[in-house]
Amino acid sequence: MSPLVEFSTSSAAETQHIAHQLGALLRAGDLLILSGGLGAGKTTFTQGLGHGLGVRPGIISPTFVLVRIHPNLAEGHNPGGPDLVHVDAYRLGSAAEIDDIDLENTLDGAVTVVEWGADRVEHLAESRLEIELVRATGADDHASTQDTAAGHDTSNDFSHDFSEEEGGEDEARIVRIRAVGPRWEGVDLSGLAEENQRPSGVE
Ligand SMILES: Nc1ncnc2c1ncn2[C@@H]1O[C@H](COP(=O)(O)OP(=O)(O)OP(=O)(O)O)[C@@H](O)[C@H]1O
Ligand SMILES: [Mg+2]
Repeated sequence: MSPLVEFSTSSAAETQHIAHQLGALLRAGDLLILSGGLGAGKTTFTQGLGHGLGVRPGIISPTFVLVRIHPNLAEGHNPGGPDLVHVDAYRLGSAAEIDDIDLENTLDGAVTVVEWGADRVEHLAESRLEIELVRATGADDHASTQDTAAGHDTSNDFSHDFSEEEGGEDEARIVRIRAVGPRWEGVDLSGLAEENQRPSGVE
């Protein structure tokens, strides 16, 4: 079995913190497959990753654009680190359609994160992190209406990082990370929730 780690978060900021810590471990060639229902927090998680990686901010749910590239910032905290390729595969029906957007082209030189990537992009790389975001039981009811507006319609109230003042109310989520393949052998992901490293990453 591939190793599985699981975290509970109670806010978007906590989810981003875990992602931020993970981002600091990543290197070019890594593939992350994000799953979880509409509004579960995939884009929120990707924002934290982007901060951890030190890439250009402005990670949003790509409503019409399937792929966005966030270049590593030379003046950031991780100069020379990998770029982030952020993909939303929600509208892509099959592996064949995925192949059309040619992720292989950038895979080796960047960290590639694919929202809605489960069962669509596993063939791209031997190793991957499968990350599932789940609403913790009991938190579903009042969140769902608002959260489903987050990604796949024309609303634009989802577009900034680390927001506390806007719409999204903090709720409980489970973040499950399964590490698959030789890249992750011997890599310990169990400490990602700790408050230790890189305090400088988030502005
Ligand atoms: N613990 C939490 N972790 C992550 N997000 C949370 C949490 N609590 C509340 N939220 C809110 O839930 C919303 C998640 O929206 P987000 O766009 O990240 O979801 P998504 O999974 O990318 O959706 P989509 O399927 O539309 O792409 C945000 O408004 C965020 O603030
Ligand atoms: Mg999203």
